Formats: sequence, structure tokens, C-alpha cells
Amino acid sequence: MKFFIDTANLDQIREAQELGVLDGVTTNPSLMAKEGITGQNNILKHYVDICNIVDGDVSAEVIATDFDGIVKEGEALADLHPQIVVKVPMIKEGVKAIKYFSDHGIKTNCTLVFSSGQALLAAKAGATYMSPFIGRLDDISSDGLELIADIREIYDNYGFETQILAASVRHTMHVIECAHIGADVMTGPLSSITGLLKHPLTDIGLDKFLADYRKGNQ
Ligand code: E4P
Repeated sequence: MKFFIDTANLDQIREAQELGVLDGVTTNPSLMAKEGITGQNNILKHYVDICNIVDGDVSAEVIATDFDGIVKEGEALADLHPQIVVKVPMIKEGVKAIKYFSDHGIKTNCTLVFSSGQALLAAKAGATYMSPFIGRLDDISSDGLELIADIREIYDNYGFETQILAASVRHTMHVIECAHIGADVMTGPLSSITGLLKHPLTDIGLDKFLADYRKGNQ
């Protein structure tokens, strides 16, 4: 299972990278705005800065919503750095663009997926990654994890190579449940990764080991 971090914050990306378990980064226009990154040149530079911190794939989202615009913007993003994955929304023009990118060897992440039908379309178009937003489904009393399980079954039925990227992950249990179901990737905040470290018995056990060592080595 790949771990991506869902942020444009360079300090958090560095922290996750230094932990040694980070496989990539996802961003979106809201996350860029949250970090105060505005203006096309600054945004493009920020993507390159992220690529220079991590070893894996970095999703950069297009703003255009028409086929020609998505293709033009996506090609420019892909030219920025070999680690860039073009993030394209699940809309009609987006599906056409994903097919175009797939035919031209450009990696894609189909974003804003909320149903199995959309996931099927993304795979048919040849998306590299497909991102169901599980937290946002949970927010409206739908079961985000059930969607991941449905898509897993559908993709396995036909051997689709599109990777299921569980997105809008909010906490550690989302991560663990996605691992049970067999999501290929999860993307979430730093806390959803570092939270996996925590167990009180680990802390109590370590304190005891260290105290016993000190007693015997004074
Ligand atoms: C994924 O690529 C999206 O950027 C992200 O996971 C959305 O998460 P949110 O619902 O917490 O905004």
C-alpha cells in the first residue's frame, strides 16, 4: 500500500519524507490556496519544490474544464518534472483528456470520484490513479469505505491496472480499513500517517525497558 500525503505544506511533506514511508504527494487548488501559493508562476514553482523533496508521484491539478484546456495545461504540468501526475476532474471533458494523456504516456489522477460508475469510466479511460473521496462521502452519511470495496471488486473482476487512491482520508482508521479492503494508495493529512505510530503500551513498554537498563548500568 502506498502512502501519499495530502498537502501543499513543505514542512509537513519533509516530515513525512524523513519518516521514510512516503510514496508521493497529492495537492489540489484548495490546498495550494491554504498555503498562500497564488499566481501561476508561484504555483508551478511550488510543484517543483515538492518534487524535489519526495521521491514519488506528485499530483498537480488542472484548472481548465474543457478538453483542449485540460490537455494544454496537463502537458505543461507534466513537462515541469518527471514525478508530476496530472490531476483531472471526473467530468466528461476530463475523461476524454485522461484517455488522451494515457495514449501519450502522461500519468493521470482522476479526482472527485464519488461512485463506482465514475471509477469504471476512469479505468476505461486509462487513468493511472483514480481518487474516491471517502471522507466527503462519510460527511454526507454515505459509506466511503463501502465505495472503496465496490471499486476494488470491479477492478479485480477485469484486471484494471488503474490504482485505487483512497482520498479525503481523515484519520488512522480510514487508513487501516483501506488496507483491509486493498486500496492501492491512500492520501491523507500528516496526522493520519503519524497517528499510526501511537500505542500507549509501546510508550509504557519503552519507559520500562529504559528504566531497567538504567538500573543495571548506573
Ligand atoms: C485528494 O487528492 C484530495 O485533494 C483530498 O484528499 C480531498 O480531501 P478533503 O476532503 O479533506 O478536502
